[in-house]
Formats: sequence, C-alpha cells, structure tokens
Amino acid sequence: MKKKTFLVTGGTGFIGSNICELLIRKKYNVKIFDNNSRGNLGKIRNIKKKIKFIKGDIRNEKLLNKAIKDVDAVIHLAYINGTKYFYSKPILTLDIAVKGILNIINCCIKNKIKEVYLASSSEVYQMPNKIPTNETETLKIPNIYNPRYSYGGGKILTELMGIHYGKKYFKKLIIFRPHNVYGPNMGNEHVIPEFINRMKKITKKRKFFLIKGSGNESRTFMYIDDFVSAFNFLIDKGKHLNIYNIGDPKEIKIKDLAKKIAKILKKRIKLYRSKIPEGSARIRCPDIKKINKLGFSSKVKLEDGLARTIDWYY
Ligand SMILES: NC(=O)c1ccc[n+]([C@@H]2O[C@H](COP(=O)([O-])OP(=O)(O)OC[C@H]3O[C@@H](n4cnc5c(N)ncnc54)[C@H](O)[C@@H]3O)[C@@H](O)[C@H]2O)c1
Repeated sequence: MKKKTFLVTGGTGFIGSNICELLIRKKYNVKIFDNNSRGNLGKIRNIKKKIKFIKGDIRNEKLLNKAIKDVDAVIHLAYINGTKYFYSKPILTLDIAVKGILNIINCCIKNKIKEVYLASSSEVYQMPNKIPTNETETLKIPNIYNPRYSYGGGKILTELMGIHYGKKYFKKLIIFRPHNVYGPNMGNEHVIPEFINRMKKITKKRKFFLIKGSGNESRTFMYIDDFVSAFNFLIDKGKHLNIYNIGDPKEIKIKDLAKKIAKILKKRIKLYRSKIPEGSARIRCPDIKKINKLGFSSKVKLEDGLARTIDWYY
C-alpha cells in the first residue's frame, strides 16, 4: 500500500525538523514548505535526501497550492516564534497567522485533503484560571493594545478557523498546544538557550545573572524527544476536532531553572531581578491527561534534557 505523503509547513524549524525525522522513521513521504526565515536546511541534514523541500512563504497561496497538490495530510507549523518578536513585530506575526491559516484551509479544501494538524500554543491561555490547565480553559486576549498578544491572538484565530472549517471539510483535524519545548538547535530566542548563552560569560569575578521578573514565575519544559513521542500518538490515535496540550506538567521557578543550568555548567551565579515584560504570565502548567489517555508518557527528566541541550550550545 502506498504510504501517505505529509506536507509540513515550518518543517525546517526546531519542532518541524524533529517531526519530519519522525515521519521519515515511520516511512511516510515528506514535503517541507518553509521560507527559512528562522529554520534552515542544516536542521534537516540527516533526512535532506529523503524529503522534498519547497522554499516558500505561507502567505503565497499560489505556491502553497502547488506544493500541496499530491499530499494526503498537512501539519501546519509555520509561524513567528520567539517572545521578543511578538513585542517587536506584531503586524508580521498577525499577517503570517491570518494569511497562513486562510491559505492552509483554502488549499486543503481545493485539493480535497482531509487530514490536518494545526500548531497552537500555551499562549492562548495567557494567565489561566486553573493550574494545571486543561484544554477546556478559556482562551483570552487580556489587552488588545499589548503587541505580545499578536502571537496568542493569531493562535486563537487559527484554532477558531480550524475547528469550524474542520467540522465541514475535514475528516481528521487536530489542534495541539505545545508548552515550552526545548532541546538542541532550537534557536537562541527562548529562555533555555538564552540562559545557556549568557552563562558562558559568567566568571569568578562576574557572577551577576539577570532574570526577567522576580524569578518566582514558573514554567514547565518538555524535551523535544518527548514532544515527538507525544506527536506520534496524535498521528496514530488523535481524534477529529480534538485539542491536545503537549507539555510536561512539572513546574519549575525561573530562578531555579537558572540555578540548575549554572549547576550543570559548574558556574556560581548571583541572581539579579528585573521588571517582567508586560503580559508575561506568572505561572503556566499543562494538564496532559488527554494526551496521556492516548498512551503518551514523558521519559526525559529536566536535568537530562538540559545536559543534552547544554552539550549542543556549549
Ligand atoms: N517551541 C515551542 O516551545 C512552542 C511552543 C508553543 C507553540 N509552538 C508552535 O509550534 C510551531 C513550531 O515552533 P518552533 O519552535 O519549531 O519554531 P521555529 O521558529 O523553529 O519554526 C517555525 C518555522 O516556520 C518558518 N516560517 C516562519 N514564517 C514563515 C512564513 N511566512 N512562511 C513559511 N515559513 C515560515 C520558519 O522559517 C521556521 O522554520 C509554531 O507554530 C509555534 O508557534 C512552539
């Protein structure tokens, strides 16, 4: 029997390249559609010969339509990522969000593609009412004037479009909400690589280490291998029109994360607190019972995942 062909938008990015490796291991055919604004072909070097790469912008409907023609399933990841860009590039973030999801839906309908996976984010919860937070939590844009919410707002719109078009046009439409996935080669604009890179400058004489906020804000972190394992369950067992949190439910305070990284690197640091960016949630922690029910359980402890990530960045 002919194996399915997947089109992965954002496939040369951090999560995308790892999903593509999974798809290749599962013997699927893989096409990547990415403009390489953040991703690059180096990230898919192990599978480059086995995939078809199309360089294109998700906002270019004509090109996307051509790429999607002989495809059975679409995984839509292409988006702006990195918190500093939500603040500095809200228009670009919204443009890619809105035109991206519209083009994905139009091209899938035109080409009768029935299986679609849409990346959302924990940012749709902003400051959740309940911790741990399950998928029924209210989605919010707390302040329409704050550019940060361009990212979360774009994801809410992606979900809305996905669910309502999904009911009418698709057989399997799944939304997933990643919560701080980390690992080697993830770029430099996230808290873990940012901490690792700054720790390089710590010396016996220069121990000051700046963190945003009081340090008591907490997050959860999921190693990329666990993310891929969870995503594998979505491909095999995920249910139509369902939304799944993907994350690790173990909370850690940001000050303790900095100390953990310092310990692995055998550095002595003195923490310096600063103002937290407006709109940053105090606490986030996913309830992952729903993905657990499909069979997923996480395997990689934070210490081990951090050590592997540090190895790559150092
Ligand atoms: N990494 C996380 O912890 C996390 C958390 C929540 C949600 N997500 C979501 O998961 C998805 C993948 O995230 P990631 O961490 O791999 O980010 P990433 O930045 O590494 O990957 C995004 C990819 O999209 C591509 N891209 C951006 N704009 C594009 C455009 N206009 N046209 C075509 N391609 C474009 C980039 O080149 C990049 O390869 C994103 O949708 C992101 O919002 C990730």
